[in-house]
Order: sequence, then C-alpha cells, then structure tokens
Amino acid sequence: MSGLIPESFVEELLGRTDIVELIERHVQLKRSGREYHACCPFHDEKTPSFTVSPQKQFYHCFGCGAHGSAIGFMMHYEGLEFVDAVEELARHAGLTVPREVGNKRQPEESLFSTLEAAKSYYQEQLRVHPEATEYLKQRGLSDEIALEFEIGFAPAGWTGLTGQLGSSKEKLALMQRAGLLSEGQKGKGSYDKFRHRIMFPIHDRRGRVIGFGGRALKDDGPKYLNSPETELFHKGRELYGLYRARKSQARLERIIVVEGYMDVVALAQFGFSNCVATLGTATTGDQVDLVFRAADEVIFCFDGDNAGRKAAWRALESTLPRLREGRQARFLFLPEGEDPDSMVRRHGAAAFGDLLARAQPLSGFFFDHYTSMVDMVSIDGRARLVELAKPQLQSIPEGVFRDMMLEQLQTLARHRLDEPRVPRAAPVRPTRSRSRDAGVLQPRTPLRLALAHLVQNPALVRWVSKEQKLENCDLQGMEIYRELVDFCAQHPHMTTAQLLERWKDHAAQPHLQTLATWPLQGEDEQQVHEFKDALTGLELQWTETRIGRMQKTIDQNTEEKQLQRDLLLRRQELRQALAGERK
Ligand code: UTP
Ligand code: MN
Repeated sequence: MSGLIPESFVEELLGRTDIVELIERHVQLKRSGREYHACCPFHDEKTPSFTVSPQKQFYHCFGCGAHGSAIGFMMHYEGLEFVDAVEELARHAGLTVPREVGNKRQPEESLFSTLEAAKSYYQEQLRVHPEATEYLKQRGLSDEIALEFEIGFAPAGWTGLTGQLGSSKEKLALMQRAGLLSEGQKGKGSYDKFRHRIMFPIHDRRGRVIGFGGRALKDDGPKYLNSPETELFHKGRELYGLYRARKSQARLERIIVVEGYMDVVALAQFGFSNCVATLGTATTGDQVDLVFRAADEVIFCFDGDNAGRKAAWRALESTLPRLREGRQARFLFLPEGEDPDSMVRRHGAAAFGDLLARAQPLSGFFFDHYTSMVDMVSIDGRARLVELAKPQLQSIPEGVFRDMMLEQLQTLARHRLDEPRVPRAAPVRPTRSRSRDAGVLQPRTPLRLALAHLVQNPALVRWVSKEQKLENCDLQGMEIYRELVDFCAQHPHMTTAQLLERWKDHAAQPHLQTLATWPLQGEDEQQVHEFKDALTGLELQWTETRIGRMQKTIDQNTEEKQLQRDLLLRRQELRQALAGERK
C-alpha cells in the first residue's frame, strides 16, 4: 500500500509537518523543557504522561505506550489508513501526493466524483418523489436526519442516472467502475443498477462516497441491494456510519455495531451517534480493527433470534484476537422480532440506553455459548467444553484478560489446565497504535542503548569511529546496528519520525520504534557521553566474547597468543574508559 507513495515524499512531508502544531490542533499541550506534555488523548488519565518531542518529531505516552510520527498520530487519532493519513497531512502542508507507477491502479478522482454526483442526483430525486418522502416519513425519519445521512431516492426506470450523469462511453465506463450500472443481456448495454429504492450513501473514513445501499420501496427484488465490490468499495472493510460517528466526537467512548442501515439512522435520530452497521455480512476482523481504532469499547447489538446469535458469534470470533489490554467487547441481544430501529422507536432513547448499559460482557456470552452446548454435569461434557473453548481462548493476545478467561474455563471444567504458555521469546510487536510499553522494561544493554541513541538522534552517528562499527562482530543484533549506523551516516539530519517511516517495512522497525521511546536523560552533551559509553560498552562486550572464545582453544600459535594479549590489553583500556566516563 505504502509502496505507491515514494519514500522521499513521506520524508518531505514529515519534514514540512510540525508534529507539535499538528497535535496541538487536537490536544492542549504544555511545554516543559524540550518536550511538550498533555493528558493522553488515547487513554483515560488524570496526570499527563503524553509527551511530544519537537526534536524527534515523535509522540509517546508513558501511560499506554502509544507512540509514533505525525503520520502515526493521524492514523491513530483519526482512525485513518497510512495512505489516507499521508494524504490528509499533505493537504495541510499544501503538497500533492505523488504516486509511483505501481501495478495497482489508483482510484481516480473521477471515480469519487462520479459517486458524489450520483449521491446528489439521488438526493434531488428524493425531493421530487412524494412516494419516497412519504415512505421515509412513515418509517419515522425526520427530514434533518435524512439530510444528515444524505439519504436519497433512485426512481423506477432504467436510465435515470445515466440520463443525468451522461451516457458517453467514458461516463458509462466510470459509472460501471463505480458499481452504479447493471449489464444488460449481450450487448444490450447497461442500465441503472439501483431502481425504485431508498438510497443510503456509504462513506469511507475520509467522508467520500464509495458505494450505496438501496432499500426497495415495495416488495420487489431483494429488500436491500448493495453496491458490488469495486476498486473503492470492499464490503468487509467498511462500516456504514463510521465516518459520521467519528466526526461527532473526537474520541468515542464506545461504538455500537448493529446490522442494518435503518438501525444506524434511527439510533442517530434518537441521539446515539456512535452506531455503525456491517454491510449485510458477518463482522470481519478488518471491521473490528476499524472499530477499535475509533473506540476502546464495542457493543454488538444483534437480534435475539438464531440468525442474530450466529452473527454475534462470528463477531466474537473476529474480536478475540484483537482484545488487547484496555479493550472491551459486549453483546446486546434484542427480543426476537425486534431490531434497534424498532426498539428505540417503541421504547425510547432512555430505555434503549438502559439496555446498552446492561449489555453482556464478552466473557459471559462466550461461556454461555459453550456451556449450553455440552452437558456440564458429566465429565465427558466438561472435557468437551475444554476442547471447544480452549483453542478459541488461545487466540486472545497474551495478557490479563486471557489469563482470566482460562481461569474461568478451569473453574467451569473443574479441571486444572496445564496451559502451554506461548513462548515468551515471541517478539512483542508494538503496533503504531497502542501497545504495552515493553521497551522500558527491557534491560539497557550497550547495544540497545546505542540503537536508542541513534534512532532518537541520528546525527550522533558522527561519534561512531570506523572500528566501532565492529564489522566482524557476530553478536546478536549487530547487523541491525551496522545497518543503522550506515543509514544514519547517510541521513544524519533525519528526525526520528522520518527514520522510522523509512524503516517501516524492516523487520527491526518495531524494536527501533520501542527504542525511540526510551527516556534518555540529560542534555545534548550528556547524551553524547552516554552514547559514547554505549559504544565503548559494546566493544567491551565483543572483546570479552572474543577472549572467551579464544581460551577454548588450547594449542595457540604465536599469532594467536599475540592476539590474545592485544585483546586483554584492549579490554583493560575499554574498562578504564568506562570507569573514567562514570567518574
Ligand atoms: P434486515 O432485513 O434486518 O433489514 O437486514 P432492516 O435493516 O431491519 O431493514 P428494514 O428495517 O426492513 O428497512 C439487516 C441488514 O442486512 C443487509 C442490509 O445491510 C440490512 O440493513 N441486507 C438485508 C442486505 O444486504 N440484503 C437484504 O436483502 C437484506
Ligand atoms: Mn428493521
């Protein structure tokens, strides 16, 4: 995805964007020393642990571990994808994003404008077709809410849209690509896909129309017709209403996922502006990602019937692997035959709010589901419970929640599981959004310190002598060290943010990103000292390793003996250097 935007542009963009200015638009920052502080916008806190460094062009929260560049901030705060974040920042900086020629066709502006034009046309048609406005009225929709959701109407007939947007070859091709047309029988040409339907525009995360859902006015054809998959529209990766929900508040406390377009609109009309709908499909992992990017809590609100329970279970399965610390999922099942739309209209906002407040935690739904499937009284049944539930629980990220779920399973099964712990060595992959701050807990080895200094201040590379590159050193992690030294030598003026964006696809990037958040004490001069110390420590470590390796060979020739003497001497020097620095 990022391959299409040239690296050099990302650097230029980060060079022209001031992260302090950017974040200040959303969060009130207070200067303290060389950094800025605030209460973290990504988690609830009373004392500020969110810091922004103008020097590194990087933000970091010591509370929740969130960190990143200006691009990362846009992604996290606005819930945007990388490409969209870059485009938003570019817009602010007055730059145009150049595209490298890739094999993937870029969606053209003209495709967006075609969909936008279609939306306007449908809106216009709504105004002039009383049967449509009448229908909305009968469903209880206010004019305001219809306008807010840009609801429209596709009149009956085959050529309403083509007649409006033009029927030249190019126009038809665009409409075709936008998913607005249906193909006639062999060569009979194309005609409007949406006919005699109430039209719900579907927006992407930046508010652009990418598709439609159309509800039949009468009982003809399927009740809902959605845009087909197009270059712009991928059902499983969008949520109806998400753009609007996010726009309503900077940071949503929770998001309510419902099944239907009408549910989102009705709930919004009753003041629940944090609702989104899946688009007639099971909730996908991508959709859960979208939700958690916007809020820490999700409530899935489905019908109480069988289909609803099934849909909820699919949602649960998509959610488990994404339940990192601080995130929460709950489920609300409505009485059979009801949907959120009918519920809120029948019982009012307050009653619906009460229902939401009493939504069942994921853990309850999970165990209810399984315990109802087996005979909990028999040993066999409880063994089956373990068999069924355990693999699912293992998809939850390691942490307190998973531990507690496993404990609960043990209690229910009346059996101690010997839980094969996921090997600790598995790298904790800090994502650019929230991650536990494992870095600070890592021991400060000379190598990590050296890397941390370089990432945080690439210009320090000038203090690395040729010998200190330790070309032959095969200690773990040294390739990265050498690669980073070379890189910094070529780009000494890069900021931390630029460097990390450039290393985006590098296997070591998550590690470097964590090191970028390490607190390094003192002002410039002291940092140079600390860095030099780290280099000395690194060489000492290597010298000691070599000495250790030498002593294993008994018959040494003179050359080897000489080398050993040299090494011992060097060790002495390095030790003294370190001791001297520490005085
Ligand atoms: P429902 O049948 O529950 O519709 O489908 P609804 O939202 O309550 O609609 P109204 O109140 O009768 O107008 C729920 C969702 O499933 C998708 C749509 O996204 C719909 O909102 N769906 C349903 C389809 O995609 N196609 C269909 O034929 C039916
Ligand atoms: Mn309904």
